[in-house]
Amino acid sequence: MNVATTVAELRRFRGVLPEPIGFVPTMGYLHDGHLALARLARVANRSVVGSIFVNPLQFGPREDFAAYPRDPERDLRLLEETGVDLVFVPDGAAIYPAGFSSTVAVGPIGERLEGASRPGHFGGVATVVAILFNLVQPTRAYFGQKDAQQCVVVKKLVRDLAFPIEIVVGPTVREPDGVALSSRNVYLSSTERIAARALSASLRKVRQSYDGGERDAVVLRGIVRAMIGAESLAELDYVSVADAVTLDELTSVDRPAVVSLAVRIGRTRLIDNENLL
Ligand code: PAF
Repeated sequence: MNVATTVAELRRFRGVLPEPIGFVPTMGYLHDGHLALARLARVANRSVVGSIFVNPLQFGPREDFAAYPRDPERDLRLLEETGVDLVFVPDGAAIYPAGFSSTVAVGPIGERLEGASRPGHFGGVATVVAILFNLVQPTRAYFGQKDAQQCVVVKKLVRDLAFPIEIVVGPTVREPDGVALSSRNVYLSSTERIAARALSASLRKVRQSYDGGERDAVVLRGIVRAMIGAESLAELDYVSVADAVTLDELTSVDRPAVVSLAVRIGRTRLIDNENLL
């Protein structure tokens, strides 16, 4: 596995990789969710490129950019074991050189849900993803369903700005108790970690209710509110039942939809979602 830290190195290594190329962008501190994406990329492409970059542009001033967990040596070992061919590990200046000022605006889709709680977040994501796409020039790029809104925003970015890249969404990887894997789970104490089960438990209840024929979005949101409300350590930030493509809130689930929620548990903010088809 080759490791590139500069744009020149990336171009040199990337230039000789056989196509098609699958790309897995990450912020590091890898868990099995990331590695599952790398494995998906491995089976469908002749080469796999990963990146590790904690992108300052997608963190708000009071968010955890400085504290975001990092372990690049372990990450590189895991990526190598998973069969990745090339990893780009740039420093800030390689992505945002001195004088950098051009950014991608994603419009209203980035202002709701996560975007309402984290102003500027999706502009930051779209900007770094666009830069990485231009540098890596992959055939396919892989994102996890756990960040449902990010998947919607990236698909729109690719459509709107005509990137010749297929976006592949990999399923959310969960612990045996249902908690979605996330680099931020490391912040949870043991009691908070138990409380975190409420997110996936509430989504399972929504799924059951939907499978039983419930289509009223107010009722489905109410299930999540009640279950998160019953967990004393959890504070609901939002619950949404929205159109899976536009993220417009629904009154009735009469088309592909995504149920998503964000919850604060102590100082940690967790998200999860479930697709209703
Ligand atoms: O999902 C993430 O880890 C990040 O948002 C991404 C896509 C790597 C962009 O920084």
